[in-house]
Amino acid sequence: MCGIVGYIGSRDVSTTLIAGLRLLEYRGYDSAGIAVAATGGEISMRKRAGRLANLEGVVGELPAGSVAGIAHTRWATHGAPTDLNAHPHMDEHGDIAIIHNGIIENFAELQRELLAGGHTLSSDVDTEVIAHLVEDAYQGDIRAAVAAVLPRLRGQWALVVMHRKEPGRIIAARREAPLAVGIGDGEQFLASDPVAILEHTNKIVFLRDGDLADLQRGGVTFYDAAGELLTPTIETITWDGAAARKEGYDHFMRKEMDEQPRALSAAMMGRVSSNGIAIGELDAITPALAAARAIEIVACGSAYYASLTAASLAERLLQLPVRVTVASEFRYDPPPLSSASLVIAVSQSGETADTLGAVRIAKSAGATVLAIVNAAGSSLTREADAVVLLQAGTEISVAATKSYTSQALVTMLVSLDLARRAGKLSAAEVRDWSAELLTIPAMASAALDASDALPDIARKYFGAKGFTFVSRGAGLATALEGALKLKELAYIHAEGIAAGEMKHGPISLLGADHPVVAVVLQSPVLPKLVSNLMESRARSAPVIAVLSGVGEWASFATDAVVIPAARHEIAALIATIPLQRFAYEMALLAGADIDQPKNLAKSVTVE
Ligand code: M6R
Repeated sequence: MCGIVGYIGSRDVSTTLIAGLRLLEYRGYDSAGIAVAATGGEISMRKRAGRLANLEGVVGELPAGSVAGIAHTRWATHGAPTDLNAHPHMDEHGDIAIIHNGIIENFAELQRELLAGGHTLSSDVDTEVIAHLVEDAYQGDIRAAVAAVLPRLRGQWALVVMHRKEPGRIIAARREAPLAVGIGDGEQFLASDPVAILEHTNKIVFLRDGDLADLQRGGVTFYDAAGELLTPTIETITWDGAAARKEGYDHFMRKEMDEQPRALSAAMMGRVSSNGIAIGELDAITPALAAARAIEIVACGSAYYASLTAASLAERLLQLPVRVTVASEFRYDPPPLSSASLVIAVSQSGETADTLGAVRIAKSAGATVLAIVNAAGSSLTREADAVVLLQAGTEISVAATKSYTSQALVTMLVSLDLARRAGKLSAAEVRDWSAELLTIPAMASAALDASDALPDIARKYFGAKGFTFVSRGAGLATALEGALKLKELAYIHAEGIAAGEMKHGPISLLGADHPVVAVVLQSPVLPKLVSNLMESRARSAPVIAVLSGVGEWASFATDAVVIPAARHEIAALIATIPLQRFAYEMALLAGADIDQPKNLAKSVTVE
């Protein structure tokens, strides 16, 4: 949520910062801004509401020959997305420029204090108070001033600060919001996500909570929360440049959908073979796995739905309670937790504030935390006791696609491996599962091909009042995810619901102008689901069905997309692919911005 880039060095500062922002724009895109410091110290700033292109149009007005700069792409929390509210923010004298990701929870109290002290605040943004507090604390050393102000703030921050009197210096600090320093040769970089700077340096220091970094052209000094000098851990990150390019596609989303067979194959690499299933990363927590008496899965949005796909399988196999909870609820109303709890946090970015909050609650209660995550090096990977990486590659489109199917698959693999380790799956059962799991990439390719029916189906139903997505069992997660995709991408109201619940209320919505989208899989509840769909047809509702191995049962469908037959847990995962395409085609018809839907951001780093 929001992107930060910073640079000190001899490259053209504005060009370097804007190039970094382009790679971060998917993180927040309602306004953008940049501040650069000239050798003599003067700080020049430009800010524009709307997409980054608006800022790019005015960045040429900045003076050449700057020595350092900071830039931001914003997702509004406090204050509307206007030019004025865009970051950076300055004190009234133009001495201090500051960019902040996160929320300052006590900003109203600090604002009152500053106003009483004679300050003039010009924006509606919580961040601005920090600029004025630093102004008051400044006595010739910007690091000391920032360090003095931090204890007064409550909330979360990734913060970068420059002062007019110290043009060759940027101070960076973090608490519960990601920020990384890129170490160069005679130049230094900052980014909220290293993807923005990896083309310049792959030597990255991830700041930890409470850390502060003092960047100067010749080097970076790191301090811990107590102000003590710190020897940083410099990580070498591999840069997947292709992932950040569309490579001939119109949209990242479409490219990432097509990458699913490869991503699913990568998720199984070294974990599933014809001989069985073994996830080596779990070895590190073997005693905790053996001691676990309950499994709590926490996640948000699509990651939450992906986790649901495998949850009842896990419960059935392990004969343990397995609960999936939205992280924003879990963190403030946790279930009973103890050292006998295994908490599995599922996240693409590994930076989702609510998921991290839930993990901290779990850890403080003595639970063991396993992270299933895509972004290597993210906060979640550092906080968990064990980490299983998705290996899906960078996902740029805000809508989760390849990360969703990979999350569903890896959660399933973990469930199966836990059952194997607990002796609850026989060797023959493991081999059966493995054989079928290994066909998933081919099934995903077939589902992508079958999805070519979706442009016509989307045209047929574009203009409907709303859509109800239904299924039963493992397919329910897919229905929920399908509805979310349609809402977020095409801005069309859609609801995902357990088909058996239709008759308890939602069926009133149905009619010729309100279709049902059904995920129909070969499962013990298939006849029940078919009855629910016949009830929908009896109310004139068209039924658009994704069918897996359903054969003669399919007469209820007005429109059908047939995907390969498989066990219902696996078919549920594959059935997501046509629903992604449906939402994509509807979004095209709606003229929506597919990769950057309105009001959203890729990584939700605020509560
Ligand atoms: O990075 P995470 O997986 O933790 O993100 C969680 C949700 O914000 C995310 O899945 C969101 O719902 C999707 N981008 C929607 O497509």
